[in-house]
Amino acid sequence: MAERVKVTIDGISIEVDAGTTILNAARLIGGDIVPPAMCYYSKLEGSGGKCRTCLVKVSKGSDKDPRPMPKLIASCRTGVMDGMEVQNITSPEVVEARKGIVEMLLLNHPLDCPICDQAGECKLQDLGYEHGSEGTRYEFERRTFEKIDIGDKIQLHMTRCILCYRCVYVADQITDHREHGILGRGDASEISTYIEKAIDNDFSGNVIDVCPVGALTDKTFRFKNRVWFTKPVDAHCDCDKCSGKVTLWYKGEEVLRVTARKDVNGEVESFICNTCRFERKNTSEWTIEGPRKISHHSVISSNHYELANPPAVIRKNPALKEANIEEFERVTRH
Ligand code: SF4
Ligand code: FES
Repeated sequence: MAERVKVTIDGISIEVDAGTTILNAARLIGGDIVPPAMCYYSKLEGSGGKCRTCLVKVSKGSDKDPRPMPKLIASCRTGVMDGMEVQNITSPEVVEARKGIVEMLLLNHPLDCPICDQAGECKLQDLGYEHGSEGTRYEFERRTFEKIDIGDKIQLHMTRCILCYRCVYVADQITDHREHGILGRGDASEISTYIEKAIDNDFSGNVIDVCPVGALTDKTFRFKNRVWFTKPVDAHCDCDKCSGKVTLWYKGEEVLRVTARKDVNGEVESFICNTCRFERKNTSEWTIEGPRKISHHSVISSNHYELANPPAVIRKNPALKEANIEEFERVTRH
């Protein structure tokens, strides 16, 4: 059995397996004390350590060596020690540093949320609201790039990319072969598909789900609707390539898009194949389970436009109990 160690984060103590990172220990506690993470993704090996949004202060190293760590550290890459004490939202230094990180991430990222498909699901948008300043001190021109088609279903808008590397890890670890990567260094870095070669394999669509911003978007959904006007419903099918467990995003009776299901940390529960994501947009191809529970923090939950009118698929399906409709309305109301 793994050795257990005690860590205290923002005054809340928890025992975790030795080797657990501070970020994952915080996720086990949950709530506001969980540091944001723009590049770490628990299902992608090697991810993390790039964006610095998860910085925290270690005010006590451990019971054996109680000295504080001299600098703020990336919680996604630092393991807990027995007796460690960590400050996240209780440290003014961390809050100030996070503000600086957000300002830096926004140096080149355009403020085009009103026309971006990721709006409402964008981690950078959330961070901007929580930590962003009203104006920018940046005096130079932002980097801009032409949009690039990665195959016929995915579009890369490099102008929005924050170089988190998640999509590169997906291509490396989830698909059969990788045909894109990050070229260049420093401010010359960019995602490249090596002369716009299409990523053509069954799991390439997962780059859309892991992208924390609107740099990689689903061309079958682009500009069709705002996510907060759509209704997420869990469904599954018998798929021979993936788990077949997805979320269908309805507008009225129409399935506008299909995504993997995301957990409380915004990570996919399991990666899905391109056939489920792009080809199965008819309700008849799915077994509907019920409304997707969406965090009340999400702008998607603020959908109160058609509360009295859940999709027929929810109303008519005998497998869905009355309670589900109530739950559907409850989660979309708050
Ligand atoms: S395209 Fe998206 S997922 Fe890929 S590195 Fe840029 S921000 Fe990250
Ligand atoms: S999430 Fe830790 S550095 Fe990006």
